[in-house]
Amino acid sequence: MITLISDIDGTILGNTQGLFELNGFLNENRDKFFIVYATGRDITEMHRGLFAEGLIMPDAAILSTGSEIYTVDNGAFTPDKEWENTISVLWDKKMVEESAGKTGGMMTQGKSEKLKVSYFIEPSRADEIRRALECRFKENNVRAKIIISHGKYLDIIPENCDKGKAAEFLINKLNKPAQSAVVAGDSENDIDLFESFSHGIVVGNAHSGLRLAADNRDFYMAGGHCGYGVLEGLKYYMQRLKSV
Ligand code: GLC
Ligand code: MG
Repeated sequence: MITLISDIDGTILGNTQGLFELNGFLNENRDKFFIVYATGRDITEMHRGLFAEGLIMPDAAILSTGSEIYTVDNGAFTPDKEWENTISVLWDKKMVEESAGKTGGMMTQGKSEKLKVSYFIEPSRADEIRRALECRFKENNVRAKIIISHGKYLDIIPENCDKGKAAEFLINKLNKPAQSAVVAGDSENDIDLFESFSHGIVVGNAHSGLRLAADNRDFYMAGGHCGYGVLEGLKYYMQRLKSV
């Protein structure tokens, strides 16, 4: 059985026909896959994906850029409290927001996630904003990780957390072998997934940040965009991992 750990936006979603074909394949082979979504979306946005955007029901979900893990049973999402306790030790949301407030060029996304604070930023100012925010964090003794993706999304999450670390925690807990895991993604907030695992699918529409990070590694670089790319990669890994 393959554990598919996949990003949603720009990876599974983004091309209607590609999604349709990927879903068809996954539904036909549902017993061969343990499906985990790994996304920046929160639980409300995850549900919108399932009920309005055509995502199929996963077996588990890593949400809010790795800061929340859920197992899914019969459509019911149960949060993993052990993960929450592990990553919240050094997290001070108030100080994170205060530091971000003193850094210019950031507009709040207005979300209310416990262990993630997100902003919209101007892509041309991404590097400058990251440096300024890192300085504020240092001054205020804030221990947090900054993840910028698509140039315009800036997520702040606990220091010992990201999509990759959350995925490692989850598959260890479920006793799934890392060798049978395949990650899939399209942007910078997926890099940590590719750093944590050795099998991965970079979709054809992937951003340069992820491409650069995946360079010279043994990942499947799909030609197809979004769902088409994931489907291509899954067929490749199904052959390659036959004995796992
Ligand atoms: C999703 C989330 C958003 C986050 C972005 C990048 O769009 O809704 O909060 O900033 O992913 O992780
Ligand atoms: Mg994405």
